[in-house]
Amino acid sequence: MISRFNAAKAAVDLPDAGRPRPILRIGVAKARGVGAVRTKALDLLAIDIVIIIDNGQVVKPASDEAGRSTIVAAIELRNLRKDYGSVNVIRSISLAIKSGEFVVLVGPSGCGKSTLLRMLAGLEEITDGDLAIGGRPVGHLPPAERNVAMVFQDYALYPHMSVAENMGFGLKMRDVAQQEIDARVSDAAAVLKLDPYLDRRPGQLSGGQRQRVAMGRAIVRKPDAFLFDEPLSNLDAALRVEMRLEIAKLHRRIKATTVYVTHDQVEAMTLADRIVVMNGGDVEQVGAPLDLYRSPATLFVAQFIGSPTMNVLECPVLATRGDRLVLEVPAGRAEIPSGGAQAPNGRVTLGIRPEGLVPCAPEEAWFSGTLSVVERLGSQTFGYLDIGRDRMITVELPRDSRVEIGESLSVAGSAAHAHLFDAASGERLASHGHEPLLKACTA
Ligand SMILES: Nc1ncnc2c1ncn2[C@@H]1O[C@H](COP(=O)(O)OP(=O)(O)OP(=O)(O)O)[C@@H](O)[C@H]1O
Ligand SMILES: [Mg+2]
Repeated sequence: MISRFNAAKAAVDLPDAGRPRPILRIGVAKARGVGAVRTKALDLLAIDIVIIIDNGQVVKPASDEAGRSTIVAAIELRNLRKDYGSVNVIRSISLAIKSGEFVVLVGPSGCGKSTLLRMLAGLEEITDGDLAIGGRPVGHLPPAERNVAMVFQDYALYPHMSVAENMGFGLKMRDVAQQEIDARVSDAAAVLKLDPYLDRRPGQLSGGQRQRVAMGRAIVRKPDAFLFDEPLSNLDAALRVEMRLEIAKLHRRIKATTVYVTHDQVEAMTLADRIVVMNGGDVEQVGAPLDLYRSPATLFVAQFIGSPTMNVLECPVLATRGDRLVLEVPAGRAEIPSGGAQAPNGRVTLGIRPEGLVPCAPEEAWFSGTLSVVERLGSQTFGYLDIGRDRMITVELPRDSRVEIGESLSVAGSAAHAHLFDAASGERLASHGHEPLLKACTA
């Protein structure tokens, strides 16, 4: 059957290409209109890999770690644009999300995260541009035909239905047989540890349990992709952590392509394969969490990723020494590698994270001032240093530091961990080291 297609090309695209497998059972299915039946039938035949075809072209091969067929899909956005009347809210976003990838959208309130997600789901019309899921153009299709499942912040459960009925309702609407619905609800309930609550109503559940029902409702549909819009933001801190781990485990197990919106730094950093930082309806930077943390392309990303935020300060450039710039910093001078980049207009914006600063002797200091706040979080201690002229610098202090509010403190940065940005455009001037940050001295 495979000989009808370009087998070599298909192999390149397979999730496990390159890993030797003893026997490979390959199934071929058509892309349109076979949804659940396709998955079930191929499961029964113990198919390892499903190659899905559309008009004679391979559009998405899929299998999970255990070799069972899973239906996952790449999502491609090309020049997506959204206008509400004369107001443009999504400018022109292009993004290729890999099959099985977990992508997190972050950005300030109003930057267009939910709008973009709703465009993927089909809940908002696309003003311009192309959208393909699993290689299939879907921009013109209604939500029900896109086979994506969206989980909202406010759960949106039906209060008069039981947990099991809530989870199965979408399938019932699609005329799936009751036996099949029961089987899928039972599977999802086991995954989400909801078995004891299947007969309860949403009003008899905690916030975390309700959120799990909302996720269960998405899972039972076996969608090509999951879209989450701040799913955990209504939960208390402990539940958020618990659910975050559940989502990470779930993704490892079912490997569905996921687009997840959050305001939570830890969720973004820990869940994402890649983070998309949005700003004013546009993409500012896309990258692996630690790459964004270590090499932010713009001042905006530098200040958006990381908590507490990166310290930034505009500094005059006093001289250029080889590939280093000598900057005037508030308490002295700092020599920073610039990769040979010149500073336009003789000024740069210097960025340094709290953990990149260490207490030092006053004559070596970049910043000197008075500690106005000390936050002891247990595993970390942060000091907020008032350096005058209404400027505050955040410093990560040694955990057991005994410094007190009102004390004077001098700190210097490690040049390798300083970031330089064009003071006018905010774009990164040069790349600096990626070494782990080590505390050089103690207070
Ligand atoms: N139906 C609408 N009509 C007009 N403008 C809208 C509509 N829906 C959203 N907007 C505007 O589009 C922009 C993007 O909104 P969106 O809800 O996508 O932001 P967001 O990034 O999800 O923000 P938040 O983090 O607060 O949820 C906002 O400026 C919002 O006011
Ligand atoms: Mg939103």
